[in-house]
Amino acid sequence: MSPGAAAALAAEIAALDAKMLERQRAALRAPPEAAAVEDLEPPELLPPSSRIEDPRVRNAAERGWEELRGGRVAVVTVAGGQASRLGFEGPKGAYPLGPISGASLFQILAGAVHRMRERAGAPLPWVLMTGPENDAATRAYFAARNHFGLDARSVHFACQGTLPALTPDGELLRAAPDRLFRNPDGHGGLYRSLARDGLLERLGNGGVSTLFTCQVDNALAPVADPAFLGFHLGSAARISSKAVVKTEASEKVGLLAECGGLLQCVEYSDLPAAAQQTRASDGGLRLRAGNIAMHAIDLTFAQEMAAADLPLHLARKQVRALGPDGLLASVPAVKFETFVFDALPLAGRGGCLVQEADRAEEFAPLKNRSGADSIASARTALGARARRWMEAAGLGSSASGVLELAPGLAVDAADLRSRKDEVELHGGRLLRLRPHSTARS
Ligand code: UTP
Repeated sequence: MSPGAAAALAAEIAALDAKMLERQRAALRAPPEAAAVEDLEPPELLPPSSRIEDPRVRNAAERGWEELRGGRVAVVTVAGGQASRLGFEGPKGAYPLGPISGASLFQILAGAVHRMRERAGAPLPWVLMTGPENDAATRAYFAARNHFGLDARSVHFACQGTLPALTPDGELLRAAPDRLFRNPDGHGGLYRSLARDGLLERLGNGGVSTLFTCQVDNALAPVADPAFLGFHLGSAARISSKAVVKTEASEKVGLLAECGGLLQCVEYSDLPAAAQQTRASDGGLRLRAGNIAMHAIDLTFAQEMAAADLPLHLARKQVRALGPDGLLASVPAVKFETFVFDALPLAGRGGCLVQEADRAEEFAPLKNRSGADSIASARTALGARARRWMEAAGLGSSASGVLELAPGLAVDAADLRSRKDEVELHGGRLLRLRPHSTARS
């Protein structure tokens, strides 16, 4: 190895977090045990935000709007993943999902942030957590599109960190002679990435006290949902979660369940199939709270989590790295990740609240090219929601074929109804009338 390469490698090794490396090795020797099924209790589910006729939802929405109007909320989107199942070159958020327009996930989310700002009359900062492999591309994507009309100073990027992968024996691996093999630290890296460079502190100084977090690949994410925020703020919870009701035990989402009074997310792969199929007295699945990784988080709790030891999840994979002979080869490796929702039990008893998410209104994950949670299923869900909102607003009910709302036009059916005189339908797309057009009476 050249002296330069040796120095570079030595510097990288010297900069390793020794405590974290020890935790990684300990996790390798004794992976954390999953909770026993018999100890898991289903959490209470609060009614979904779409059930507006329920006074609890109405009151919560009012509370949430107060918080939004007061500028005390920021939106956080985790977008650091690698989109390997989708097989898309570039950040997953840049995927053109709009069924007619091809609007990207980023554009759809930016529209929702824009509309919520407009309605709240408040800044509503937006933070995107990127990953080492898509940070530059994501920033460039936003810059090239003028941040979709959002003030660039109100859109923040925070790149998640990495962790060294290890051999099955706990040794460091090299990706190149002068470089360790590392992988992104999972979406649990959010807390540290937000705390880094003082971003959380700056948000706090700007008056923000609650974060609404969602994943970039949920095409229907109800950005800064007021009722959800209101439920969270009206309770003692420090971190709240949304959950879809699982109807099929085989659906691949983690389960929110309580164990000893602490909420946690249990991976479906850690539960025996029989336990997942157990029914409650109402005939539904006993464990039915499907985690969609959408949270309301107190800023102070996020700050604490940045310094906390979140559990490490291990993934054993073959990777291209230097083998013992120093040559590049396919070698067995263990990658380590942390998850955002592993903070749930750390909030203590009563520190979490769970609200049911209306699946058709709020959750359409884009994971795969085809089949379940795919491009087609997410597009269909977007189109179906557009049709429901338009019909509820008395618009386009006679239109056949696919329908799409222009990003940022409305954030729910009632919002669209309030704007029905400002819009027109063009080739299946509901657009805002240009300012010089005559508004319909
Ligand atoms: P997923 O793991 O489901 O999606 O992450 P992915 O990483 O985009 O795609 P695959 O697994 O490689 O096919 C769920 C959400 O968490 C974010 C993703 O961007 C997505 O919004 N995420 C995931 C991160 O921000 N960082 C990570 O290290 C992993």
